[in-house]
Amino acid sequence: MSEAADTDALVEVDHLKQYFPIKSGLLIDREVARVHAVDDVTFSLRRGETFGVVGESGCGKSTLSRCLLRLLDPTAGTVRFEGRDITTLSRAQLRPLRSEMQMIFQDPYASLNPRKRVGQIVGDPIKLHGGAKGGEGSVKTRVQTLLERVGLQAEHYNRFPHEFSGGQRQRIGIARALALEPKLIVADEPVSALDVSVQAQIVNLLDDLQDDFGLTYVFVAHDLGVVRHVSDRVAVMYLGKVVEVSPAEELYTKPVHPYTAALLSAIPIPDPRENRARRRVVLQGDVPSPIDPPPACRFHTRCPFATEVCSTVEPPLVDYGGGHLVACHHPQNVSEQEIRAATVAPESPVSAGDLLPEPRGDSARAAAQSSS
Ligand SMILES: Nc1ncnc2c1ncn2[C@@H]1O[C@H](COP(=O)(O)OP(=O)(O)OP(=O)(O)O)[C@@H](O)[C@H]1O
Ligand code: SF4
Ligand SMILES: [Mg+2]
Repeated sequence: MSEAADTDALVEVDHLKQYFPIKSGLLIDREVARVHAVDDVTFSLRRGETFGVVGESGCGKSTLSRCLLRLLDPTAGTVRFEGRDITTLSRAQLRPLRSEMQMIFQDPYASLNPRKRVGQIVGDPIKLHGGAKGGEGSVKTRVQTLLERVGLQAEHYNRFPHEFSGGQRQRIGIARALALEPKLIVADEPVSALDVSVQAQIVNLLDDLQDDFGLTYVFVAHDLGVVRHVSDRVAVMYLGKVVEVSPAEELYTKPVHPYTAALLSAIPIPDPRENRARRRVVLQGDVPSPIDPPPACRFHTRCPFATEVCSTVEPPLVDYGGGHLVACHHPQNVSEQEIRAATVAPESPVSAGDLLPEPRGDSARAAAQSSS
């Protein structure tokens, strides 16, 4: 990513790393290893878009989300919000920015204080950030308006969280996130803990609110099915790395990374034509440990297309045009022409180098020549 701030971008993430030290020792804590939770990730969020982030458990989605909001101190790299580097700001410097970026959590049971009434849960942030200029009454009116906007009722103001269903509690979480009129909302698996029937209602609500409040979303999910209809773009993560980023529709019809294809294989598709066109990729084994991730392509221990180069050279993030970036030596669903036109993306990790994928015809010819 260039040094100059992109004015259309709300957030710019540049070569971000978040490693967690693992310490041991009786008297003196010694660092014995590191969890590579987020490992050289670069992307930017355009104003008003929904950026989906998917991947299996432990791939670093929540860690990335927390870094974006500076709830963690990144190990390396930068996060810019509206062009301003927020990576090293102090708590006091961050305070005014807190109202601009909010989070919606996965567990609507754990994320709401059971001892507080809904009015306090949603209203306290408004008071804390000096929004109570019109007095107690004006905060109450604002909270009640917000409750109605998220599909609850003004009378719910005096109730406690345990009096609500999971879906209703998530609506309270959404009202709390909206209370300070943020520009960015990071929703970390906002519907994973809810019944399937309620999931669609919450996703639709978030979608409706986006236009009304001019919001930019990061929408984190385990599976690609959930983010499909809300996301403008989707990033697929594997063991701390972004392996594919694409406009959402293209990702579903033309997955280029074998890991994306495998995630897609796991979700049912109502359209039989799309189903037939999709090649099934079944994953072998478990996700390796992020403490000691496999070298080169981290997916090579489970990938059905892996060859020697995959375990020796890290594939760069390669730009296939139209904002479709993929880190794979043997890309799927791309033509020879697209492979020839591809270039290494500026978002590629520093450790990846610049080895572009070979067009299949070339590698087949080379293999035939070497065997003759
Ligand atoms: N505070 C921490 N200290 C040490 N390791 C951590 C910490 N937070 C996360 N990790 C580790 O970092 C890795 C990424 O975790 P993270 O929670 O970001 O994954 P995730 O993709 O959100 O997973 P899930 O889908 O289960 O929520 C995991 O191996 C996790 O154990
Ligand atoms: S680089 Fe190799 S191992 Fe990695 S995803 Fe591509 S084909 Fe599979
Ligand atoms: Mg998580």
